[in-house]
Amino acid sequence: MISIAIDGPAGAGKSTLARALAKKINFIYVDTGALYRAIGVKFLNLGYNTDLNCDIASVLSTTQINIKFIDGEQHVYLDNADVSEEIRSPQASMMASAVSAKPEVRAFLLEMQRKLAKENNVIMDGRDIGTVVLPNANVKIFLTADPKIRAERRYKELIEKGKQVTFDEVLADMLERDYNDSHREIAPLKPAKDSVIADTGNKSFDESLEMLYSIIKNTELL
Ligand code: DC
Repeated sequence: MISIAIDGPAGAGKSTLARALAKKINFIYVDTGALYRAIGVKFLNLGYNTDLNCDIASVLSTTQINIKFIDGEQHVYLDNADVSEEIRSPQASMMASAVSAKPEVRAFLLEMQRKLAKENNVIMDGRDIGTVVLPNANVKIFLTADPKIRAERRYKELIEKGKQVTFDEVLADMLERDYNDSHREIAPLKPAKDSVIADTGNKSFDESLEMLYSIIKNTELL
């Protein structure tokens, strides 16, 4: 099986690009952030805040996360309920970042991610795919862009979905998440040594897609 790892900070374009790329080369696209978000929603539903003052392992012992691909789209299930929409709220984003710093949560999701890559040709996106989850991935890409550009993209997405947010809030949330994700002790966000760094900041969607496609083409894997 062939694995392509795409890591990088929020808003660099990972999910839209990885989804389009997967379609183009007929791989499945696995959005690992959605798994952390679903766990975040579990803790939100239980009334916890990002301090997570609770017994994480015991909450996880009663948590079931599943994913299904419907018409090629990944749906995430938390305790058998489809939470694919709910996980996109700003609260779920912050909670996902908080739970993702917990070693119990990372261990809980590790095997599931590896199993998906073992059984399918995947493009998997996240923060630690090239460094921890799939250290032997055939191609590793680290996508990045200036924080203001990333926040602008995320802001537009949220406004299009009818969410009530300001640009400043989105930028502040994004900087806080970037900080948390890259400073946590376990599996922090950082490029794998053997990754290709790809900056999407000054590129259109089509140009970025072409850049990623040519990185993969150059490896002669396809
Ligand atoms: O990619 P995203 O914004 O949906 O991810 C939500 C959070 O989950 C993000 O703040 C960091 C965390 N995450 C992670 O720690 N490791 C991954 N492989 C994917 C996401």
